[in-house]
Amino acid sequence: MNPNSQTPADGSTARGAALVIGAGGGLGHALVQALSADTDPDGYERVLSLGRSTLPALDYDDEASLSAAAAWVAQQCAEQSLDLRLLIVATGFLHGESGLPERSWSQLDTDYLSHVFRINAIGPALVMKHFLPLMPKQGRCVAGFVSAKVGSIGDNALGGWYGYRASKAALNQLVKTAAIELTRRNRQSVCVALHPGTLATALSQPFAKTGLTVRTPASAAAELLSVLARLQAKDSGTLIDYTGKVLPW
Ligand SMILES: NC(=O)c1ccc[n+]([C@@H]2O[C@H](COP(=O)([O-])OP(=O)(O)OC[C@H]3O[C@@H](n4cnc5c(N)ncnc54)[C@H](OP(=O)(O)O)[C@@H]3O)[C@@H](O)[C@H]2O)c1
Repeated sequence: MNPNSQTPADGSTARGAALVIGAGGGLGHALVQALSADTDPDGYERVLSLGRSTLPALDYDDEASLSAAAAWVAQQCAEQSLDLRLLIVATGFLHGESGLPERSWSQLDTDYLSHVFRINAIGPALVMKHFLPLMPKQGRCVAGFVSAKVGSIGDNALGGWYGYRASKAALNQLVKTAAIELTRRNRQSVCVALHPGTLATALSQPFAKTGLTVRTPASAAAELLSVLARLQAKDSGTLIDYTGKVLPW
């Protein structure tokens, strides 16, 4: 049985919806595909997806778009008597018009730092504000925020990538904090930061090195969903990788 469809203690509906934010990205798209193809009869009744190209659209540069998208999700769930039992946030930024990850402190740049913090930390924080209140107050529910191992301070042996590392470390702290608040609201909830491993997507493409193990987004999606399905309330507030291993903060 899929643990996401456990019957809540209050006897309310066990039917669940899953929501992926960042559905247009390499990993986000693969997560939507995997959830939609799930043939487990105890799987999610409905898979919702949001991103900058969906209707409604969700863009971290416009908080009103998050508020409107959350109202849409609430309406979709209410219309079908579904509880939002799984939320995965698969957005992220490493390189783009605002710059490249830094090799040295000499390359630190206000515009790049502002952007990487906005997409990797502030955006997911606004997701917490608008979407975590939609999760049920009873019964198992899971929120997974895709972070990165390089956001781990304890694991930082190589240096470099100041902005990306720091923005993911900020995300990790936000996840830990939200996990505590979510547990006060629902003792069976799980809220974790996730490391997907190195994937063949646009985000990592310029940094591909020979000898590095690069996996497909489809493999990562399957592995992350399997990890999320196994997590229990006691695992909430951790940074966990695609094999289920807990990483240091
Ligand atoms: N790829 C890797 O090797 C790797 C390794 C470790 C961790 N990660 C993490 O895995 C997650 C997924 O990355 P990916 O590889 O799938 O990258 P990706 O293909 O570049 O996807 C990035 C996602 O972020 C979204 N996004 C960017 N700016 C946004 C904004 N202003 N508002 C809302 N959404 C925005 C994109 O939305 P649009 O579709 O609208 O563009 C897209 O869904 C990220 O958190 C990344 O840091 C990736």
